[in-house]
Amino acid sequence: MRLRDEEKNLKLGERRESARKQQKMQDRGKIIVINIAVALVIVMIALTVKAVVLDKNTKQQKSEDNKKVVEATDAPSTTPAPSSTPEPVGADRWIRKDLDSTKPMVALTFDDGPYAKVTRRILKSLQENGGRATFFVVGNRIETYAETMKLAYDQGNQIGSHTFDHSDLRTMSVKQLKKEIKKTNKAVSAVIGCDTTALRPPYGNVNKKMRKTIPVPMIYWSLDSEDWKSRDAKSVIKQCKSVKDGEIILMHDLYPSTAEAVESIVPKLVKSGYQLVTIDELFYYKGIQAKGGKVYYSGR
Ligand code: NI
Repeated sequence: MRLRDEEKNLKLGERRESARKQQKMQDRGKIIVINIAVALVIVMIALTVKAVVLDKNTKQQKSEDNKKVVEATDAPSTTPAPSSTPEPVGADRWIRKDLDSTKPMVALTFDDGPYAKVTRRILKSLQENGGRATFFVVGNRIETYAETMKLAYDQGNQIGSHTFDHSDLRTMSVKQLKKEIKKTNKAVSAVIGCDTTALRPPYGNVNKKMRKTIPVPMIYWSLDSEDWKSRDAKSVIKQCKSVKDGEIILMHDLYPSTAEAVESIVPKLVKSGYQLVTIDELFYYKGIQAKGGKVYYSGR
């Protein structure tokens, strides 16, 4: 019996031993699994952090790139500084909404262009002094000076019609008149994307037929610079000395003497408190509801 008991005890011991070993193995297995799980979690956290940092970096890079693009396009451009609101397009461009209606205004107008050599000097002077003007262009000159006219428009200046070929509109039939207006608008619109909203009749000639047919206001002037007559900057400057609020000044962007006069007149007017406006701005701020076919001499 004793022997058997001992054998039994021995077997029991062996079983216990193997059970302990098994338990140990299982425990080790569990520890390994837990370790792997912990390692995986750490790797995932590390990857997530890296991804977030990378994303932040690329976003920063992108915004810096955008800034660079804005700076790059700003530098050579001659258009006004970018504002938070987008620039209006078409004829809406010809009325700035941030002018002071209580301050005096003058509308400089230039006929018979565009003419790169002179028009561009005038544009530069206006741009440097925050002024705008109206260019009554001759339709058949547009193809040659399209870029100059586009620049005038881009800088916020108004483009008006001075007919297609500078002909006396009084001699035309209603049908011819309509054709002439359409032809000019087509040439203007091909470059700036919109029609004209004002017309200056060549030679200042107007008749009843024109009043009935022309769909936009006809713009005369209250001050003639006589630049075409004198072709002398000093004379033009002298002629413009009597300027008053609401004046529409007649000039021609054909003569270098006119450009020279403008380079002197524009900064002087701005310094004395005048706002240099387009025809549409003059009407807008002076409360004039301009009608098609009607003649206007000034903003007074
Ligand atoms: Ni003319």
